[in-house]
Amino acid sequence: ICRGISSSAVRHVVIKHVTIIGGGQMGAGIAQVAASTGHSVTLVDTSEDILKKSVKGIEGSLKRVIKKKFADKPEAGEEFMHKVLQNVSTSSDAGSAAQSSDLVLEAIVENLKIKQDLFGHLDKLAPEHTIFASNTSSLPISDIASSTNRLDRFGGLHFFNPVPMMKLVEVIGTSATSQETFDSLLNFSKALGKTPVSCKDTPGFIVNRLLVPYIIEAIRLHERGHGSKEDIDVAMKLGAGYPMGPFELSDYVGLDTMKFIMDGWSEKDPDNPLFAQSELLNKLVAEGKYGKKSGEGFYKYK
Ligand code: 3HC
Repeated sequence: ICRGISSSAVRHVVIKHVTIIGGGQMGAGIAQVAASTGHSVTLVDTSEDILKKSVKGIEGSLKRVIKKKFADKPEAGEEFMHKVLQNVSTSSDAGSAAQSSDLVLEAIVENLKIKQDLFGHLDKLAPEHTIFASNTSSLPISDIASSTNRLDRFGGLHFFNPVPMMKLVEVIGTSATSQETFDSLLNFSKALGKTPVSCKDTPGFIVNRLLVPYIIEAIRLHERGHGSKEDIDVAMKLGAGYPMGPFELSDYVGLDTMKFIMDGWSEKDPDNPLFAQSELLNKLVAEGKYGKKSGEGFYKYK
């Protein structure tokens, strides 16, 4: 392993070899960005089929990036694509991937028990120096870390959709995360070309804690008959400078994800009016209308 001195003169692990567990939109996006910035990445999921789809997704997204970045140099673009894909390998064996990694980052299903089991298992196999991190958007990092014996080398790295475009990474430290680990995660985020912000291990960290209640209030505003979805979306784009309105953004993120986050919070803090249920959101999710990914949410998609 490589060790460096951070700006705060605290020693930290320089992350070069990364295992990303979960080949969905977030995991594949993180793998793409890490590979594009010269890291060697092993993307892990349960089946070859899923991994093939993840790599296809990476190729598709890379093409969009390259079209812009290498607009006048298509050959350099192809070379870049080739180099990036060379940095990505796939595996269905998380344990063996973790054995040669400086960082194991999970972006799997938002289920505490499954995440705990995964990290509890990997804790026995990964080298001493390896840092574990979760991309969870709704579960406490300290709860996930509790299944391991590396509480000091455990943190959160929360990315945003679409990962290749969104510049932010939330770096989350628990009360047990060491300064060395925190600095490693901050430096890794910078090495990905992202801007990190430091977060505490509190529900929603910074972005979702503000974004999710705002979106749900937009849905309630519509439920009260105080504005059409279209007008609310236009209003927030042109009046507040958001790239997407709250209904477009919910469809993009996934209504199931929005509901999952809200349910978790309202369970913990049922009297908080910010976390009050929305009938419309519940109805759409019950009907399987999850947004863009299912073809319909607040809007219909081709
Ligand atoms: N990969 C690579 N490039 C992409 C991309 C992707 N997945 N998505 C968009 N782009 C780039 C492409 O260059 C695209 O040009 P192309 O269509 O010619 O390929 C360009 O962006 C413009 O895209 P669009 O024309 O489709 O639309 P926009 O100009 O609106 O940009 C957007 C798309 C970047 C997604 C922008 O609308 C945006 O920033 N939306 C808000 C996203 C947001 O708020 N995300 C956070 C969600 S919360 C979250 O993720 C946390 C979780 O825990 C819930």
